[in-house]
Amino acid sequence: MIIITNVDENDLPKVYEVEVESFEDPYPYSLLKAYYYLSRELFLVAKQGDDIVGYSLGIIQFGYRGHVVSIAVKKDYREKGIGSLLLKELEKRFKEYKCTHSYLEVNFKNKTAIEFYHKLGYIIVKLQKNYYGRGKHAFIMVKSFSKDKSFE
Ligand SMILES: CC(C)(COP(=O)(O)OP(=O)(O)OC[C@H]1O[C@@H](n2cnc3c(N)ncnc32)[C@H](O)[C@@H]1OP(=O)(O)O)[C@@H](O)C(=O)NCCC(=O)NCCS
Repeated sequence: MIIITNVDENDLPKVYEVEVESFEDPYPYSLLKAYYYLSRELFLVAKQGDDIVGYSLGIIQFGYRGHVVSIAVKKDYREKGIGSLLLKELEKRFKEYKCTHSYLEVNFKNKTAIEFYHKLGYIIVKLQKNYYGRGKHAFIMVKSFSKDKSFE
């Protein structure tokens, strides 16, 4: 059984393992720890027993925008709905903080993640050139929480 819950400080080494397994340029451990102190209410983990099989991390920007900083699921546990559970719970928290929309950057070549976000209701609003370094562009994707779909 998968449980989505707030990260505990003791979980951070296992979160870092997921991070390293999931990204070419993983966040350093120190940054994950900083986010833990900065935004622990928006730092979630997917647990199976004692194991951490995924995490999602967000922050609130400008008081009204939920920013998905990162999300990742352990390779062996992907395509089982765990990423969706993690993102939906993060969005629920954004709404509790009265955010009008959710916002994220994704590598323009990361087709899996783009498809994932699209399935969860996100649309591409912009290409941010060289966001991750020269030639490494990002799509900005947004999901409005209001019925009129505006996200100004
Ligand atoms: C992106 C990621 C978090 C998705 O997690 P997941 O648990 O596999 O996602 P889910 O099982 O909830 O999938 C939900 C939907 O996403 C899409 N999706 C997921 N994996 C996909 C794949 N390999 N190819 C195409 N679409 C995919 C599908 O539309 C899927 O819906 P379906 O099950 O009805 O087909 C995971 O692939 C991952 O950790 N990737 C590496 C890290 C990363 O790129 N993070 C995003 C950074 S911006």
